[in-house]
Amino acid sequence: MSTKTIIVDGNEVKTDKEMLIDAIKDIGIKVPSLCHHPDLKPWAVCRLCIVDVDGKIVTSCNTQVREGMKILTHSERILDERKMNLKLILANHPFACESCIRNGYCELQKLAEEMNVKKEEIQGETRNLKSDYSSLSIVREPNKCILCNRCVEACDKQHISILEYNGRGFKTIIGPAFDNILSNTPCVSCGQCALHCPVAAITERNQTREVMHAVNDPTKHVVVQIAPAIRVSVGESLGLEPGTVLTEKLVTALKMLGFDAVLDTSTGADLTTMEEAHEFIERLKNNEKERLPLITSCCPGWVNYCEFFQHDFIKNMSTCKSPHMMLGALIKTYYAKEKNIDPKNIVVVSIMPCTAKKNECNRVEMKNDLMRNVDYVLTTRELASMLKMTGIKVDQLQESAFDNPIETASSAGVMFGATGGVAESVLRTAGFMLTGKKLKKLEFESLRGMKGIKIAEADLDGKKIRVAIVHGLGRTDDLLKQIKSGEVKVDLIEVMACYGGCIGGGGQPIPTTKELIQKRMDAIYKIDDNSELRTSYENPNIQSAYYKFLKEPGSDISHKYLHTRYFTRDPYNP
Ligand code: SF4
Ligand code: SF4
Ligand code: SF4
Ligand code: FES
Repeated sequence: MSTKTIIVDGNEVKTDKEMLIDAIKDIGIKVPSLCHHPDLKPWAVCRLCIVDVDGKIVTSCNTQVREGMKILTHSERILDERKMNLKLILANHPFACESCIRNGYCELQKLAEEMNVKKEEIQGETRNLKSDYSSLSIVREPNKCILCNRCVEACDKQHISILEYNGRGFKTIIGPAFDNILSNTPCVSCGQCALHCPVAAITERNQTREVMHAVNDPTKHVVVQIAPAIRVSVGESLGLEPGTVLTEKLVTALKMLGFDAVLDTSTGADLTTMEEAHEFIERLKNNEKERLPLITSCCPGWVNYCEFFQHDFIKNMSTCKSPHMMLGALIKTYYAKEKNIDPKNIVVVSIMPCTAKKNECNRVEMKNDLMRNVDYVLTTRELASMLKMTGIKVDQLQESAFDNPIETASSAGVMFGATGGVAESVLRTAGFMLTGKKLKKLEFESLRGMKGIKIAEADLDGKKIRVAIVHGLGRTDDLLKQIKSGEVKVDLIEVMACYGGCIGGGGQPIPTTKELIQKRMDAIYKIDDNSELRTSYENPNIQSAYYKFLKEPGSDISHKYLHTRYFTRDPYNP
């Protein structure tokens, strides 16, 4: 990108940014925007980002920087017109901020405050459209929609493309075609639409009330588990620096909220690693060409996508349940026995960066002995709202340890939170299973980072494994085409539906941008750098669980509780 000179509000500025909105932001001026998201293509419909370029009003989000441009970012005319545009958006918005799930982090509410615009200034016609509660993961409230197109773009980027414009003019509704409900579509529940919506028109299905009800029920023993990605991201919702690691303080906070026990899903990830590494080696040893490459299965967004759109690859999927489901199954069996608690009285709550896991925990395959492995899934955002509601200041708390007898997790398990982390963890353990020795070098740097598709060869002290890592379903579609055509040949594929992996999950704090994802990722790898326990097979709690209950990876009992099945699903008749 070549450097250009532009004049911003009378000051000469050099910039290498492509779009005007970014060049202006770079010099410390925030141009208001609603339809623009830094990780999506510009749509330019809200007209809040207008600036004056050489006497003409243009939208800065879709205007490319040109040499010598003269820009006024806040002339009287610009400020007046921006204000008018915002008033028109607000005119038919059902202002119910106090009771809205996005109260406090709604971009529209924030801009109204910053631009000093009052709802009452223009009264327009409001709409009385039906909300869509049909999905187990996502709720649509079209009355709140400001038609910014971000969700349409986010869903298109995933190659799902079920959100579109229905109707025209004032009657326009963004949603599935023919005003269908989400449960009648092949929505994979990834939540990328909710993550990118500037208002509360698409959100996660909130279950905090049900969870607090269980917590307050004295007959229930409520165990909560926290996903790897939560510890490095929830702080952002609480006003802390991105990448702040809160693991042990979160344990204290969750105890204060009333949970009876707090466990780490990274321990479940250690279990997934053991089972998946074993499964991978078995397929390699038995030369099961039909079922190789093995594709990871810990992302339910990807599982849904595979079942709807990639039927040829179902046989390649690992049969492992996702880490929180494995841990849930272990809690209602091994933990229950060790603690002498009737599993029927145990409620398992998973706090996840993920909306797809809400859908996953309702699958019939995620039940054992007539009990769900996990009863409720809350997102990072729901956890943040519970902490705010109760006034618990996580950063000011003492640290506490997770509860025994499953209190330890390896940092390999924590790496599940970032793209590439699942494969790296599996390779560390597969290396040990193949050679009987700890690998000389545990880090596989070529599998890390934000590159969309990474293809690399991993050296397990002599045994070469070809690996592909992909994050984002659109890119997964691209990669699988290359696998089918034979252009790419690998033994192991890690797929994560969300950008950056779970650290960019659909239930993560808003905003989530590439820069924030990178900071969360850095924090995850720092945990690994500083850890003394960096492999799943060395986790003493996992060793005990196998010794006392599961026997060995791939055993009948492991298969009963820790593995699952997949089905082809018709996207036109879900
Ligand atoms: S959850 Fe994912 S698949 Fe479903 S509508 Fe949103 S972006 Fe599309
Ligand atoms: S649902 Fe949200 S993201 Fe989608 S168009 Fe409406 S306001 Fe924008
Ligand atoms: S990448 Fe993580 S957050 Fe996103 S759908 Fe998959 S499991 Fe959920
Ligand atoms: S942010 Fe540029 S038109 Fe909406």
